[in-house]
Amino acid sequence: MKILGIDVGGAGIKGAVIETTTGELLSERIRIESPRPATPEAVGITVQALIDQHHWSGPIGIGFPAAIQHGVARTAANIDPAFIGLPVADYFSRQTGCPVQVANDADVAGLAEMRFGAAKDTAGVVLVVTIGTGLGTALFSDGHLLPNTELGHIMLDNGLVAERYASEAVRDTQQLKWKDWGDRLNRYLVTMEKLFWPDLIVLGGGASKKLHKFAPRITVQAPVVPARFLNLAGMIGAALFAEEKLGAG
Ligand code: BGC
Repeated sequence: MKILGIDVGGAGIKGAVIETTTGELLSERIRIESPRPATPEAVGITVQALIDQHHWSGPIGIGFPAAIQHGVARTAANIDPAFIGLPVADYFSRQTGCPVQVANDADVAGLAEMRFGAAKDTAGVVLVVTIGTGLGTALFSDGHLLPNTELGHIMLDNGLVAERYASEAVRDTQQLKWKDWGDRLNRYLVTMEKLFWPDLIVLGGGASKKLHKFAPRITVQAPVVPARFLNLAGMIGAALFAEEKLGAG
């Protein structure tokens, strides 16, 4: 099935038409800067621009940077607080006239990696961490997702919230060297390992391309691998999620 997959991020909103049977991109990936402030109306306008640029009129899946409970946003760490309590799937469906399904961005990136990517056919516990403006997490047990694990907000043993200490945005603004930031990410991953004992950790987001630069600082026992789809995983997974929901009626 062909679905327009959209990844709403703190910095950019990206979209591409995805073939859900293979995870392939059938169109070019288009990226538009995230509006500031990222209010529902402003994000809606950007989503519509992506639809127009793709000449799209079919189903849409959106990965969104918030806990999404049955289509309703429950948090808004890196997006306008006006989203909290908003039925985002219905809101974007009405605004665009296309059937829209919405889920947490890290959860859908995880779906893409479980189905076609770095965690394909992996039994046991898989933790996917997406590194961007925030730290997103997706947790799987034998391929089943526990949705909306907001583990980027966990407090570390230094008293700091993980995503305010080890995100890509923090590396950027504090101009941290890869090895120094690697130590920070490691502190986070060690904390995750002590709590969840994953069999595999998959890192997504822009930094996953640079794993070789900080891999020597990572001391967890679980293998740590880059996401196969790197920062495309959100768009691909958003389309997979929408297909699942459409199939379920
Ligand atoms: C949000 C999560 C999101 C993550 C990555 C966090 O700040 O709370 O819902 O998955 O950022 O975008």
